[in-house]
Formats: sequence, structure tokens, C-alpha cells
Amino acid sequence: MAAALTVEFAPFAAPAKGVWVVFCDDKRVLGPAAGRLLRSSAELIRRAAAADHFTGKKGSTLEILAPPELKISRLIVIGIGNARKMTAHDFVKLGGSAVGKIPHSAKEATIFAELPSGALKPEQAADLALGARLRAYRFDRYKTKRKEDEERPALAKLTIAVANKTALRATWRDHQAVADGVLIARDLVNEPPNVLFPEEFARRANKLKNIGVKVQVLDERAMKKLGMNALLGVGQGSAHGSRLVVMHWKGAKTDAPPIAFIGKGVCFDTGGISIKPAANMEDMKGDMAGAACVVGLMHALAARKAKINAVGAIGLVENMPDGKAQRPGDIVKSMSGQTIEIINTDAEGRLVLADVLHYVNTRFKPRFMIDLATLTGAIIVALGHEYAGLFSNDDQLSDRLAEAGRQTGERVWRMPLGEEYDKKIDSKFADMKNTGGRDAASITAAQLLQRFVDKTPWAHLDIAGTGMSSPQSDINKSWGSGFGVRLLDRLVSEYYEK
Ligand code: BES
Ligand code: MN
Ligand code: ZN
Repeated sequence: MAAALTVEFAPFAAPAKGVWVVFCDDKRVLGPAAGRLLRSSAELIRRAAAADHFTGKKGSTLEILAPPELKISRLIVIGIGNARKMTAHDFVKLGGSAVGKIPHSAKEATIFAELPSGALKPEQAADLALGARLRAYRFDRYKTKRKEDEERPALAKLTIAVANKTALRATWRDHQAVADGVLIARDLVNEPPNVLFPEEFARRANKLKNIGVKVQVLDERAMKKLGMNALLGVGQGSAHGSRLVVMHWKGAKTDAPPIAFIGKGVCFDTGGISIKPAANMEDMKGDMAGAACVVGLMHALAARKAKINAVGAIGLVENMPDGKAQRPGDIVKSMSGQTIEIINTDAEGRLVLADVLHYVNTRFKPRFMIDLATLTGAIIVALGHEYAGLFSNDDQLSDRLAEAGRQTGERVWRMPLGEEYDKKIDSKFADMKNTGGRDAASITAAQLLQRFVDKTPWAHLDIAGTGMSSPQSDINKSWGSGFGVRLLDRLVSEYYEK
């Protein structure tokens, strides 16, 4: 994993070096431990605050360099405003913004996990630490000039001071699993497409074996045998072979039907014969963000030993123009038996998902299926980069996803499905065509997917706007955000493990 930050927990004590971060409210009241340990510096802090017009309002900071009587290099007081009602996600964001305030020259830092009202609960302190790790991530594997520039944070060790270290052990193991899952997904999305082609992606997914996930990789021959011609058609113009990776985590005591997650893994999307314009085509290395999320999620579930049976399946292809490439006008027979007329070879994600959805549905008979895909540019037009589009045939699953979205800040917005839209993908020559025109393009794409899920409860997340080229936030400075890992991990822990 790129540029990892080690997080440790320690009891409240004045740090002997590095940067010390404490929080205060809008009355400039510190937490009790910091208040006690900084008593002899209280007057200094008060004067510095007055000189800097620091009020403790949310997001404001006060920095004191080399404070006398203390051995640290810098004291940073972060205002949290009126700290009464903070949600779990607020603590994640707070951890992220705290790391953001630590100067890049600092190698070590200590954050006091307390508010004026007292020490954070174990869960809250773990959320803070999670946010810190997500914020500290950067993808600089391919930067060879390791000059001491200001852009490169030196922070290697972060101490989170807490009331009770042992109370944190279990919850931190779980949070750490999720953090690692997010960072695995980000790494995969950020990797260049010459490095991360389907076979290499499959190799990386295969590493989940080390933490108890059963991994099965199907090559083109195996998929051909299954009749996955919709998926194979997309990859047939590429020099790289296509792959289907099936990951199986058995965490429940029984052989109960699994829940299933399916990811679009187009390792590079040129558009194929319906080629995309050159501008920003490099972004299409991220067209596997759905698959990356599924791998990150399976990591999180296995690493925290989630009490659930879960299947992850990712369709890995590269969409290239070539003498062997698929043509507009081609008709492919999907594994389900339904035929699809190719109108635009750039509408490839749905072709990949059609076969993977059908495969998972018939092989595993899952309780529900959730697919993630950077499926349409139109979802960015509709929702921007703030919400993923949610399409579902099941109100309960939909509501639960929306709630998990609110809790994690990985928000989803439900969009409609309906027979009316279905007409737009009827084909003159086959059972359906792969595009439905410009209008409602995200919906007609979802409508096609729905034809491959039968009656199984299913949700489709269009993450074209949120999985890549994602907005910079307190907890994400990465191009690939890892969107979906925290959302779906929360969905599982909140509703399906109890
Ligand atoms: N991977 C793209 C969608 C996409 C666009 C993701 C921008 C992220 C950012 C997808 O395969 C695609 O090309 N969709 C087309 C569909 C069209 C041809 C019906 C689109 O959205 O324009
Ligand atoms: Mn495309
Ligand atoms: Zn695509």
C-alpha cells in the first residue's frame, strides 16, 4: 500500500516531541486532559488566541511554535465550534482535518482524542483514527524524485491519546480493516492502466486468500464455456485477456445464502470502435472503480471477520479498438440467453455486468445483489460528484443503503426505474440494444442491468462521479476515492450481521 501512516494509541500524557494537536470549543475550552497538562501554558494560549483572533469556531486553528515549558515543536489547537451533537462521520472528518493541519515537515504528532465534555468513547476515537489514516493516504509510487519538498508530508507516526487503550482494541481492529479496504480500493483505482490490466488486477484480488477469502479466477476459456459472450465481446479487441474473479467470504456459522457484491472492472475504457475523444481519456483508467470497491470491501469484511457470508464478483476487461474488436451492429448472446445488439461499443460496462449479475444470481442464489459501476457520464450530469446514483427493485435495500450513506458520508441518491424507460432499449434485431439514447441515459443503463437480475433484491450504484476524479475532502486527497467500501461495510454491519 502506498505511503502508510502508522497509528498508535497511548494514554493521555504530554508528548515529548513533535506536534501536539488538541481540540477546543467555541468558548475556547479544551478537553479535561489537555486542560490539565497545559495548565502552565494557559496564559500563553490565551494571549496567542487573542493576537490571532482565534475563537475556536469550527475549522479554525491556532498554532503556537515551540511553546516554552513544553518540549514539542508546535501546539495546534483546532476549533470544533459547538461540539454538542457530533455524528460518527463527524469524528472521521475531524481526524482527517486534524491530520491536514499538521505541517508537512513534522515526522511525529499526537492528537488528543477528547472534547471539552471529556474523552472520546472508544468508537469515536477509532473513527478519529480512521479519518486520520484516510487523509494521510497518497499515491506516489511513481514519483521518483523524492526531494524534500513541502508537498511530501513527513508524518510517519501518529499517536492518538485516549482514556483507555485496551477498550479500543476490538473496535480499532474493525476500523483498521475498513481503512485498509478503502486504501486498497484507492490504490487499484489510481494505478495506471499499463500496470493494472485484467490479469494483474486478478492477481491482486487473489491476495485476499491470505486473509481467508476463497478466490477463484476464471479465464476466457472458462467464461466462454459458461456462455459469457456479453462480457467477452467487450474484451475481444484487447491484447490482454479478460478475467472474472469470484471472492467468497464465509463468516456466518451456517451455510446461509450469501449477500453479493458485483463490480464493473473495465481496466481501461477507450470506448472501443465507438472511440472516445482524446481529452481526459486518461481518466478511463478509473473505469474499474466498482471492481476496486468490491475487492476493498471483501478485504474489510474478511479482516474484521464479519459474521456474514458474502460473495464478491468482478468482471475484468479492457475496452480497445482493434481489428478483432466488437463492432456496432454486432449481436451477442449473453449467459442468460438474452441477446444484445451493440449500438455503441462505449456502452460496455452494462455488457460486462449483465453476465456477471446473471452468473452470481444463478450460481449463488444470493439474498441480494449490489453492483457498483462507473457506468454513465450522465450520472455526473445529474448528481455531480457528491452522490452516487442508486437504482433498485427493492425499497428496503434502498432505504438501508441511503441510511448507511448518511452515516458514512458516502451518500447515494435514489433514481427511478420503470417500464416506460425499458422501451428505449428494445431492439429491432435482438432482445435489447445496449444504449437507449441521450435522454435518461443512466436510467436506461440501469434498466438493462435489471433484465439480468430476475426477482432477486438488487441495487445498482452508478459511481462514475464518486469513485474517481473525486472531490477533495477532509478524508480524501486521492483521485481514486475508494467510494463504496465504507458505505457497504456499514450496510453489512448495521443490517446483516445481527
Ligand atoms: N465508463 C464510461 C462512463 C464514465 C464517464 C465514467 C465519465 C466516468 C466518467 C462508460 O463506459 C461510458 O462510456 N458510458 C457512455 C454510455 C453511452 C455511450 C451510452 C456515456 O456515459 O457517455
Ligand atoms: Mn464506455
Ligand atoms: Zn466504461
